[in-house]
Amino acid sequence: MNSLPAAVRIVEVGPRDGFQSIEQTIPTDAKIQFINTLSEAKLPEIEVTSFVSPQWIPQLADAQEVSIEIIRDSNIMYTALIPNIKGLERALDANYSSVAVFTAASDTFSQKNINCSIKESITRFQRMKTSFQDNSMRVRGYISTVWVCPYEGQMEPENVLPVIDALLELGIDEISLGDTIGKATPDDVRNTLDLILSLHDANQFALHFHDTYNHALENIRVGLEYGISTFDSSAGGVGGCPFAPGASGNVSTGSVLNLCKELGIETGVDDQKLSAAVNFIQSYLN
Ligand code: COA
Ligand code: ZN
Repeated sequence: MNSLPAAVRIVEVGPRDGFQSIEQTIPTDAKIQFINTLSEAKLPEIEVTSFVSPQWIPQLADAQEVSIEIIRDSNIMYTALIPNIKGLERALDANYSSVAVFTAASDTFSQKNINCSIKESITRFQRMKTSFQDNSMRVRGYISTVWVCPYEGQMEPENVLPVIDALLELGIDEISLGDTIGKATPDDVRNTLDLILSLHDANQFALHFHDTYNHALENIRVGLEYGISTFDSSAGGVGGCPFAPGASGNVSTGSVLNLCKELGIETGVDDQKLSAAVNFIQSYLN
């Protein structure tokens, strides 16, 4: 077992994963102010929005405007989620040099979420590969439903291996393993990481937990013990997934900060500024 990492990198996904899944649409100006305050809190990476179909995710239909208006800090990586070439073109128009693509370990979830199979999603990404290279893009790859699928139930750890291989083949820089509905237990996480990390390096992975059953922090702790040092979270724990019945919010960024503080792990995040961002957005949330 590794010793715990000295530093953790938090990927703030509230403005995307959070806002896509709440019923009400947050006003564009409020999104911008929220993201600017998150930048002041020095979150190392902020997933700002997604360039998906506005029919599917109307809450993020203002992706272009938000992306253009936010104040970007040159020390922070700003990322946009994209499902296909059209999304990539929109992200390039909005000045992104970092994007995230997404697929799943469960075919049923993939169909419900992006209207295609896992295999077809990989083909979509392959069509973007040249553009990624030509534009020197940093690319993150999400794999949803690694542990439990809302439609197929408990997943076998082996399911995720070919998806990881396909993403690495595409030159993806970081793979975020998602517990989309927050049902993974610490033992589930151990089993899957035992398998994955017998084949791959821990520094290629991030973990993405939702806190539906209060396992997220324990699961992060397991990830740390396995040498993983990048975790996705959302300010205030807002979030879910509109196509994953039962999903509740992402683990909150504040609770990840507290855990790191307890364990003596650096994050570089200003927790007072983070609280200011949470307090600001709270009034817009039911
Ligand atoms: N941005 C904006 N519009 C897009 C788009 C994108 N990235 N991709 C496709 N569209 C539009 C097409 O132009 C087309 O519009 P039209 O009807 O006016 O001609 C329409 O959407 C249908 O296009 P198609 O390629 O057939 O897509 P689809 O209906 O099979 O949907 C996705 C595929 C991936 C675009 C859609 O499932 C999607 O956006 N899913 C996102 C889900 C998500 O964000 N989930 C949460 C993240 S975990
Ligand atoms: Zn999520």
